[in-house]
Amino acid sequence: MNGNYSVIQLFGYSLIMQKVIISKNVRENLKNILADTHYSNIFILTDDVTRRFCLPLIELSDAKIIEIKSGDGNKNIETLVSVWQFLAENGATRKSLFINLGGGVITDLGGFAASTFKRGMAYINIPTTLLGAVDAAVGGKTGINFLGLKNEIGVINPADYVLIDTQFFKTLDKENLLSGFAEMLKHALIYNVAELQKVLDFSLDEIDYENLHDLLASSVKIKEDIVQKDPTEQNIRKALNFGHTVGHAFESFSHTAGTPILHGYAVACGMICELYLSHRKTNFPKATVQQICSFIVNNYGSFNITCKDYPQLYELMTHDKKNAGKEINFTLLGDVGDIRINQTATEKEIFEALDFYRDCVGI
Ligand code: GLY
Repeated sequence: MNGNYSVIQLFGYSLIMQKVIISKNVRENLKNILADTHYSNIFILTDDVTRRFCLPLIELSDAKIIEIKSGDGNKNIETLVSVWQFLAENGATRKSLFINLGGGVITDLGGFAASTFKRGMAYINIPTTLLGAVDAAVGGKTGINFLGLKNEIGVINPADYVLIDTQFFKTLDKENLLSGFAEMLKHALIYNVAELQKVLDFSLDEIDYENLHDLLASSVKIKEDIVQKDPTEQNIRKALNFGHTVGHAFESFSHTAGTPILHGYAVACGMICELYLSHRKTNFPKATVQQICSFIVNNYGSFNITCKDYPQLYELMTHDKKNAGKEINFTLLGDVGDIRINQTATEKEIFEALDFYRDCVGI
């Protein structure tokens, strides 16, 4: 077992502890946690898929199971109300425990439900996707989509524990594995060259789950350390947004166009554009841009856009939550591990970055 405590600092004193356990036996870890603490009752949030395939691996017979429909389209106020209602009708108290078993939709919505019902109860995240494990489950961002905007309503309130077990990822298809892997590539890029090399050397054609376990542990640690320094994203946590300003625009665009792409694929496209901007504006080395872009193109293929789509993509970027005023906010890099937060780019520079993307992928 390999665990780290993150002490979350707010206004100069410690408020919350989040323990991340990279596990090889999630059932055993959960049993130990439950033996140490008394909860009045336990609720497990699942979706139709995780209830069937993942819940049997938990084996918690006395828990009450809540099931919601899978998919980001269900991360909404109606689903949240149904979860609150279940809690209200089934005797949930502030001393209950809420367990989220699923991907980012479950940990985001469930984390928000647990944080708000009766002003909050303890909760544990057990991510069942690689994307959930490296990103959504760690760091306490919770919430729902609202009025067509992603994660518009929510709070930052970390889970008491995050239990990450790579056995869940063995049933993921390649696209979902790659989607999570894009966030691992991002973590490596904002961290250091040694981590980046490990990520680039990892074989995505034949997954070695032991190796993935180790790589995941170091990737999650990179995120944890950043979140610990800046839980509310005033400063260095913005590093985790690398690739996401353009990435979120690609993601929303793909949904509107009726050709949805997974979050990690959109972030991979976004990283190509933001590496271009990093080279242009903060002198990121050209050879490394080329190395990373080839890796992305080889593994993630291309998302089809033409220059006619640029204004719509630009418009989507202007709505990004990270923008302070009219300017579009980017996190760029001066080199691998050299983080430059609060950067901006003009419309012309952003269009050039989109041109660069199309050149890279050959469309
Ligand atoms: N997904 C980026 C963050 O948690 O800050």
